[in-house]
Amino acid sequence: MTERLNFLLEIIEDLKNQNLFITLPVLQSEQKNWVKMEDKEVLMLSSNNYLGFANHPRLRKAAKEAIDRWGFGAGAVRQIAGTMEIHLQLEKMLAKFKHTEDSLVFTAGIAANRGTIQALMDAGDVIISDELNHGSIIDGVRLTKAERKIYPHLDMEGLKKALEESKNFRRRLVVSDGVFSMDGDIAPLDQMAELCEQYDAILMVDDAHGDGVLGKDGRGIVSHFNLHGRVDIEMGTLSKAFGCLGGYIASDAILKSFLINKARSFIFTTAHPPAVAAACMEAIRMVQDEPQHFQNLWKNTKYFKEGLQKLGFNIGNSKTPITPVIVGESARAQELSKAMFKENVFVKPIVFPLVAKDKARVRTIVTAQHTKEDLDFALEKFGKAGKMMGII
Ligand SMILES: Cc1ncc(COP(=O)(O)O)c(C=O)c1O
Repeated sequence: MTERLNFLLEIIEDLKNQNLFITLPVLQSEQKNWVKMEDKEVLMLSSNNYLGFANHPRLRKAAKEAIDRWGFGAGAVRQIAGTMEIHLQLEKMLAKFKHTEDSLVFTAGIAANRGTIQALMDAGDVIISDELNHGSIIDGVRLTKAERKIYPHLDMEGLKKALEESKNFRRRLVVSDGVFSMDGDIAPLDQMAELCEQYDAILMVDDAHGDGVLGKDGRGIVSHFNLHGRVDIEMGTLSKAFGCLGGYIASDAILKSFLINKARSFIFTTAHPPAVAAACMEAIRMVQDEPQHFQNLWKNTKYFKEGLQKLGFNIGNSKTPITPVIVGESARAQELSKAMFKENVFVKPIVFPLVAKDKARVRTIVTAQHTKEDLDFALEKFGKAGKMMGII
């Protein structure tokens, strides 16, 4: 390391002193209910692989066939020479799945949020955002010259007040996670749609944790609240329930053309390998023709949440497969995660700045792949660790 980078050591030391220093856990196997980590088999309770698609034979097959048909790399950014027919087929299929006119796929969800918000809003506009919105939304907001107003988490009076104060701006954008990634609670999108109609505000929802999880056949939060046609912009990812990679905006064709021209995170990056597009399409087919994954996910979610509650843990206000086990200080969350790992269960500690300093937690996510035996095993280990640490 050069001397000019020595200042990094101080920052890292500071993070370590605050128990906030992060290292990367490494999988030595494919992503599934039991994985290999640190040379042992552990129960995975921290992935976003909701439906168990990440290692599914149908996705593997679709990707392999696409490699044979299209080669591996796309070879260029979408705008120049990287758009293949298979990319457009995916966008049409996604739009149909989401009941929108069209969609545009970005290389990742973070790129979809950053690029869309950056392209849409400018000086003279205002963005109104839930205080617990995902970092990629916050990044998008920071990329614009628009004013920002942050309302308290899920507080519809707070949203109304912000809209009332925003009447004189040129345009208003209200943006929210659909399912909040650290808490598993759900935005009241029906009330938000009404307020946006009343105040002539554009409504954008991040469905990263709603796709494959909420609504009819896992079509997401707009389907869950039956709001088709009333939410201007649906953003989602293909990297969680769909088990692949990518982000998207589902909306109308005009927005798609606009973003192709103006969204910097779309313009300045190479297209997905065609195998990614093929696997994404297979995942969208599977969500619709194999409903058992969706059903298992919810059966497991209910069983596991009830189990944690019976043990006496604080699981917040979660309504989805994301279930936080809230313990307070960062050090406690890290201790609980370590105790669980010793017992062969992997649950990631989530600490500041991802959540408030006194709301550190381990975040659990069950998937459709977990068996009842898996969940009983995890509950037993949670009970043991929770008692040992005096949490329950
Ligand atoms: C709510 C939310 N939005 C956006 C993203 C970004 O999605 P991706 O991982 O596809 O970049 C994530 C995932 O980390 C997320 O949890």
